[in-house]
Amino acid sequence: MEVTVIGGPASAEQARRLAVELGAEYVPVEHKLFPDGESYLRFVADLKGRCVVVFQGTHPPQDRNLLQLLMISKTARERGASRVLAVVPYLAYARQDREFLQGEVVSIRVVLHAMRCAGVDALLTVNPHSPWALEAGGLESIQVDVTKLLARKAAESHGPFDVVGSPGKKGRSMAEAAAEEIGAVPFHLVSSRDPMTGKVEVRVDGLDVAGKRVLLIDDIISTGGTMADAVRGLLRSGAREVIVSCVHGLFVGDAVERLLGAGASALISTDTVPTDHSRVSVVSELAKAVGAWASAKR
Ligand code: R5P
Repeated sequence: MEVTVIGGPASAEQARRLAVELGAEYVPVEHKLFPDGESYLRFVADLKGRCVVVFQGTHPPQDRNLLQLLMISKTARERGASRVLAVVPYLAYARQDREFLQGEVVSIRVVLHAMRCAGVDALLTVNPHSPWALEAGGLESIQVDVTKLLARKAAESHGPFDVVGSPGKKGRSMAEAAAEEIGAVPFHLVSSRDPMTGKVEVRVDGLDVAGKRVLLIDDIISTGGTMADAVRGLLRSGAREVIVSCVHGLFVGDAVERLLGAGASALISTDTVPTDHSRVSVVSELAKAVGAWASAKR
């Protein structure tokens, strides 16, 4: 089945590159904001019977980017697309994946429901916060893991590293995958989050990092608080140098200054959230996944 890639305003350049890699038709979206902040979107293409890829990240401004994704997907469906694959490298609202405190809205469920209602059949994301929440969302879920790619690029530009560490529940497997890729030793940073204040505490107890070059890796950096704590702890424990890496670099507010101020020597992230620190492109990985999805639908 023929694939058409529609480039949403949040991801137009990456979408164009994806279309080139796939040898697919590319449809740009004309976009402007009305004086009151509402989005105007326009795209012209014959979509009847086509497999349509709507490429639109939901990085900040999340609400606008998400709504535009829904608007484009629904319209593609109305114009006869036989299938819609939403390519959303950074999926917003994924961290609230359960009711931690009574009465909280589980935002990821709402987002996935809205996508289904807008006619999205399948969702392709990169290192989602909660793989299981996506699998339970009623959409076909395709998840690309770029941990090894990120570690390899970090080692090419800053390596070699002696050890690779990662905080959080998923940290253990992420550190193991990254360390295996670059021939380093993995370790896990114990982190805990206060559900009321959201404050995260990271512990590096009992870890021998004296004189070592450390690569820290995480799925998301938002405020930088978790990683800054980890950097400080590692340097206090005698680490020679700490480089910070992440898949989704939101770098909210003064996150970058915070990380560098804590003693990180460098920051490296992928382009799932396009910033000045995006050093690793995930487009080729996305192209492989989209190609496999389209072939399976033939
Ligand atoms: C948590 O589950 C994630 O893996 C990150 O550790 C967290 O989102 C980082 O947040 P912040 O940068 O605000 O500490």
